[in-house]
Amino acid sequence: MARPARATRLAVLISGGGSNLRALLEAIAADPRFGGEVVVVGTDRSDAGGLHSARAAGIPTVVEVLERGADRAAWEDRLAGRLAEHDVEVVVLAGFMRILSGRFLARWPDRVVNTHPSLLPAFRGAHAVREALDHGVAVTGCTVHLVDEEVDHGPILAQEAVPVLDGDTEETLHDRIKAVEHRLLPACVALLCHDRVRIEGRRVRILPADPANDRDHDREPTPGRGPGPEPAPGSEEHP
Ligand code: GRF
Repeated sequence: MARPARATRLAVLISGGGSNLRALLEAIAADPRFGGEVVVVGTDRSDAGGLHSARAAGIPTVVEVLERGADRAAWEDRLAGRLAEHDVEVVVLAGFMRILSGRFLARWPDRVVNTHPSLLPAFRGAHAVREALDHGVAVTGCTVHLVDEEVDHGPILAQEAVPVLDGDTEETLHDRIKAVEHRLLPACVALLCHDRVRIEGRRVRILPADPANDRDHDREPTPGRGPGPEPAPGSEEHP
């Protein structure tokens, strides 16, 4: 018998413009079977542009600014506590520029996901697009991964390449990378909502959609692999 539909409760953490937040909200709005809903948007910056989008969508917001010299652990505990008040099940880092400790991550084991604008493990850190450009790479891209205690390091859910074009600036390249993130991040969040992600060491296995689960999609693109038919059960594994 099909399980009753119940949306997984998502928190989205942002520090900037929030285009990935908007892409996630649009993906959820466009797909009644997405399987998740954003129940709270949190930020460390009171001027984060994405806050407007959250408020416009009627989503509760949490602003926890980390003041210079403040107790970082206490700040993180406050942030986690305020998310937990919303019974959050999955935390989505969408341009959140703070490193989260193991203490925070332990509250949502393997349920904190991040998008990063490079093909990890290349160009970790806050200046990935500029560093890729400065390095002269011909191809960069984006990575959606689960978060562990190391920066931009956890198991990889999906990656997609973006070519560097002649005349690219950090801004033009980042815009094209973001266009891919806007598709890849929601696809990965949907997989988490449908409990289709299994972690085996550093490797991630994506379970096939369960036709008996009415939250699952019958047919959907596998993130990072492009659209296509469902793989045979057990055959799907990300490199
Ligand atoms: C994204 O490129 C993300 O990978 C990086 O920060 C950017 C956030 O953009 N961590 P936005 O705020 O979602 O527009």
